[in-house]
Amino acid sequence: MNDKKKGQKKRLQSYFASCPLRLEDFLETELKTQSVSDIQKVHGGVKFKCDELSVLKVLHFTRIASRIFKLLDVYPINNQDDLYSKVKNKWWHKVFDLDQTFKITTLLDPDAAKIFKNSLHLSRVIKDGMVDQYRDEKGERPNVDTNNPDLPFLARIEGRGKKDGFNALIYLDICGKPLSDRGYRQPGHAAPLRENLAAAMVYQTNWDKHENFFDPMCGTGTIIIEACAIKMGLPPSYLKILKAVDSIEKPYAYQKQNWYKENNDIINPHQKWLVEQADEIETKLGKKPNNIFASDIRIDKIKKSLQAAKLNYCIQLAKADATEIDTFGDSGIVICNPPYGERLGTEEETKELYYQFGQNIKHNFGGHKVFVLSLQKGPIGNIHLKTKAKTPFLNGQLDCRLFEYEINPKK
Ligand SMILES: C[S@@+](CC[C@H](N)C(=O)[O-])C[C@H]1O[C@@H](n2cnc3c(N)ncnc32)[C@H](O)[C@@H]1O
Repeated sequence: MNDKKKGQKKRLQSYFASCPLRLEDFLETELKTQSVSDIQKVHGGVKFKCDELSVLKVLHFTRIASRIFKLLDVYPINNQDDLYSKVKNKWWHKVFDLDQTFKITTLLDPDAAKIFKNSLHLSRVIKDGMVDQYRDEKGERPNVDTNNPDLPFLARIEGRGKKDGFNALIYLDICGKPLSDRGYRQPGHAAPLRENLAAAMVYQTNWDKHENFFDPMCGTGTIIIEACAIKMGLPPSYLKILKAVDSIEKPYAYQKQNWYKENNDIINPHQKWLVEQADEIETKLGKKPNNIFASDIRIDKIKKSLQAAKLNYCIQLAKADATEIDTFGDSGIVICNPPYGERLGTEEETKELYYQFGQNIKHNFGGHKVFVLSLQKGPIGNIHLKTKAKTPFLNGQLDCRLFEYEINPKK
């Protein structure tokens, strides 16, 4: 390989992986296992550097990130006129073609929000700069598509600390749909967890993958399916990888972007890697674990999710009441996300459920580590188990804790 080619392959780019608030530490830990450098944890995500092939691996392997953005440019600005002229001064005709659609989303950090106020207006300013440059160069302009654009751009306007002015960071979203949409979620359920939150909860248990793992209030099965994928070594994107290889479907935005589709040094090895991954996934799907258990008073929902996730028969499933069910072994992890009384169940019913569940845990689950995701303040007070630790999580907007209890072994 000549030096020029070597240099091209190793060229590092800057990226930002976003995640739900309070999952930043989990994302940072995950990124440390990947071929990336300059990892920097920030509010709502992690910045890092790597080459373009490596970022595609990160995209397929992260269980925690919501999206990954490639940094295209940074403009020091003082006002929106600056923003327009700096955007217009760039090379947008090289980033995308006339027949490709785009969309701009703008986010303001707290300093920028004091000055700029209207992020929608800033998105229009950036769009105008891009299309005006495009028209000057090519005589025509590409169209905006707010639903399913080929190029979803993100502009982050940040204060410059002690210096005056702001930085406008222009990113390209290389994912399209959020990475937490794994492809197994069925529509129409009241309170499922986000898949990346469920994966973080599994990480937080420090499960060694050999112990029993049990969700006695499994609902649609998010926690249990994430645990199953972790145990089986399936990448979180395994359903999308199988689709991408088997059909002409393009589940990711990067597949429609020029930096990827016009670069044989990236597309060829990546396609080969996807095919190898698909083969490995098929093999892994054939090796069913025997230590993952789920139950609920209604198991119709999890059955549909398991079918969509291609994980039928990987989980031992029972229709049972969590206040009565007995253990599957002498030790292991019990984890659940009971109703909080906010969206599901009345307050009194919920308090009684927590009390009866706590009593059942005490009597039947000696030797287990028990994790319950619930509101920081609420029905959890009725569980009457001794709290060992609490990890803060946000379930949507709800301020929750993953409460950990260690239950003494049966005498
Ligand atoms: C908040 S949902 C769980 C959502 C689940 N983590 C998911 O991602 O889909 C609470 C679940 O607890 C179940 N549940 C309520 N009372 C129960 C009981 N006594 N025994 C077992 N499951 C119960 C409900 O049927 C519901 O599926």
